[in-house]
Amino acid sequence: MKVLVTGGTGYIGSHTVVELQHAGYDVVIIDNLYNSTIDVLDRIEEICNKRPAFYKIELCNKTQLNDFFEQEKDINAVIHFAAFLQVNESVQEPLKYYENNLLSQINLLNCMIENNIENFVFSSSCTVYGNPDSLPVDENAPIKKAESPYGNTKQMGEEILEHTCKSKNISAISLRYFNPIGAHPSAKIGEVQHGTPHHLVPYITETAFGKRTQLNVFGSDYNTPDGTCVRDYIHVIDVANAHIAAVERLSKQTKKNKYEFFNIGTGIGYSVLDMIHAFEKATGIKINYALVDRRHGDVEAVYANTTLANNELGWTTKYTIEDMLKSAWTWEQALAKNSN
Ligand code: WQD
Repeated sequence: MKVLVTGGTGYIGSHTVVELQHAGYDVVIIDNLYNSTIDVLDRIEEICNKRPAFYKIELCNKTQLNDFFEQEKDINAVIHFAAFLQVNESVQEPLKYYENNLLSQINLLNCMIENNIENFVFSSSCTVYGNPDSLPVDENAPIKKAESPYGNTKQMGEEILEHTCKSKNISAISLRYFNPIGAHPSAKIGEVQHGTPHHLVPYITETAFGKRTQLNVFGSDYNTPDGTCVRDYIHVIDVANAHIAAVERLSKQTKKNKYEFFNIGTGIGYSVLDMIHAFEKATGIKINYALVDRRHGDVEAVYANTTLANNELGWTTKYTIEDMLKSAWTWEQALAKNSN
């Protein structure tokens, strides 16, 4: 079976390509290399002994996309990762985010319909839940008004799928990721930071490495056990394998509805201080941190009820928080070695 992976040289995309190839799928990647580099293909080949096909294409350019589908036939499913994903940047540049994230998805869906490709897996996010009313959050929880244009493009992306699946020959699954972290154990692929890390775990590993002098813990007065925010951190390889389970559900017609969505998390909430202590325990490295003011827009606590994905996708997480943090640390060390 041939699977098209858009954004396949990115963080979650590249890990999903590796797992797809290990599972015996033929993979073709479309990426514009806006947020990744072409050498990721070499790393994927080193890990899998198999090189995915690659096309440098702008998904917002329908002509380029039409030409692609003229060349690449027999695609059975599409996994769509390609999107701008910086929450802060989306607040400063909303039109850039709405145009890129929505137009690329609409072009892709139109090409799929024109080429009789039915199966679509969408990279969504737990941000659709906002500050959930109860925890753990399940798929019946209400969708809250997005706090950023980025989060809104995920909500609108899901709505576009729900309506398209109703009237067109498209079946789709949205995977609502919680907080993907970690890296492939080979340390050949991982999350590449551009400038100061926004996310917690890369900031921890850069502090551990000495690239940052101190980690600022954003808020210690939340209504949580230790006052710091709680999140559901999940290994990126577990997230990758959820996409294979989704492709199999769509292609084997075991889906119950033409449009479905699932929480992709571990079901366990860790606070920021929990993560610092877990990192120190896993690596033996002390993290220098300070408790500072809250970060605007942060959700107090969110972690997943994963029952639906476990039961319907036959998918469960395999990695522990220690695995996640050790792999993140190994990746940080590999980055430094490769940049010398
Ligand atoms: C986690 C916790 C911070 C940095 C992000 C995206 C979201 C989704 C999941 C894609 C928060 C705290 C962080 C630091 C800190 N991704 N923190 N000091 O914000 O939960 O969600 O990943 O869909 O869209 O925004 O992740 O890693 O930024 O923050 O104290 O230097 O760590 O306040 O409580 P977040 P994060």
